[in-house]
Amino acid sequence: MKAIIPVAGIGTRLRPHTYTQPKVLLNVAGKPILGHIIDKLVENSIKDILLVIGHLGEKIKSYTVSSYPDVNFEFIEQKEPLGLGHAVYLAREFFEKDDEVLIILGDTIFDFDLSKFLKSKFTTIGVKPVDDPRRFGVVLLDGDNFAKKLVEKPTQPESNLAIVGIYLIKNPKLLKESLEEVVEGEIKTRGEYQLTDALQIMLNKGEKIKVFEIDGWYDCGKPETLLDTNKFLLEKNGMNFRRLGKLENVLLIPPVYISPTSKIENSIIGPYTTVSDGVEISYSIIRNSIIGDDAKIQNALLESSIVGSGAVVKGDYKRVNIGDSSEVEFY
Ligand code: UTP
Repeated sequence: MKAIIPVAGIGTRLRPHTYTQPKVLLNVAGKPILGHIIDKLVENSIKDILLVIGHLGEKIKSYTVSSYPDVNFEFIEQKEPLGLGHAVYLAREFFEKDDEVLIILGDTIFDFDLSKFLKSKFTTIGVKPVDDPRRFGVVLLDGDNFAKKLVEKPTQPESNLAIVGIYLIKNPKLLKESLEEVVEGEIKTRGEYQLTDALQIMLNKGEKIKVFEIDGWYDCGKPETLLDTNKFLLEKNGMNFRRLGKLENVLLIPPVYISPTSKIENSIIGPYTTVSDGVEISYSIIRNSIIGDDAKIQNALLESSIVGSGAVVKGDYKRVNIGDSSEVEFY
């Protein structure tokens, strides 16, 4: 089976990081987001992967090709991010003759039994009930658990089942035709060509679409969700003590990820902290944070922070000279 991963988006919600790094290469729990996804595909013997690249696409190309020599990658460029439907439309020649194709978004980490999902006999969409479905595509079901209607970002949602970004398509030819109808017919929702709209066309043409509820769905699209995902993955994977960096007078509060090429001294790190390659930290306390490659942190207290590659953070110690029973608060 082939997989398509659209990774051409600009990642505006994760600026300033995404000005220089593609979102999918941001490090979560010691690995780029895209690495977590590709590892899962490879575990399930999927080795033909097409990436729809755009913004900072060359970086994605060199990361994937050098990190996964055994995977057959193909790349297609989406020059303008006109929507997920448009990204998959550009990939149509890659899958149109196949019996099935898997589509998986580049900024979503899944922790579930993918092999079970892949066994489905029908076109299947990963879903999860959410409190506020207005930011998502949603699915309305008929009595037999098949989709009867799909709506992208509804203002008045009729269902709370959100589409979470993994799709198994059992009729790729019909998907291709439906995407052509959307893109060539200029059907846009909220200014973009939507994959959800193409799936609705498939439904209208008689395709049976099942849903598959996914609990382990971790969005990485915003700073808060990126940090939550980092926390979840570190909690799950614990701590790799065999390959820590150079540590001197350091207290680690697990779970943390510490790159073997980092250098930390006189500091307290953790819990829920990722320290990437080449990072140098001294005299600092850092928790619930992601520190990017080659960043330097000195004398700093950091919490819920994302520090970009090569960034420098220098803090300061306060001096006080206060008498008995005084009360001082620093913000
Ligand atoms: P998002 O909707 O999260 O868009 O895309 P984005 O650009 O990545 O982020 P924001 O909204 O600006 O913060 C979900 C997935 O679909 C891809 C993205 O790269 C991401 O993996 N995508 C989206 C495309 O490949 N092309 C598009 O035109 C839109």
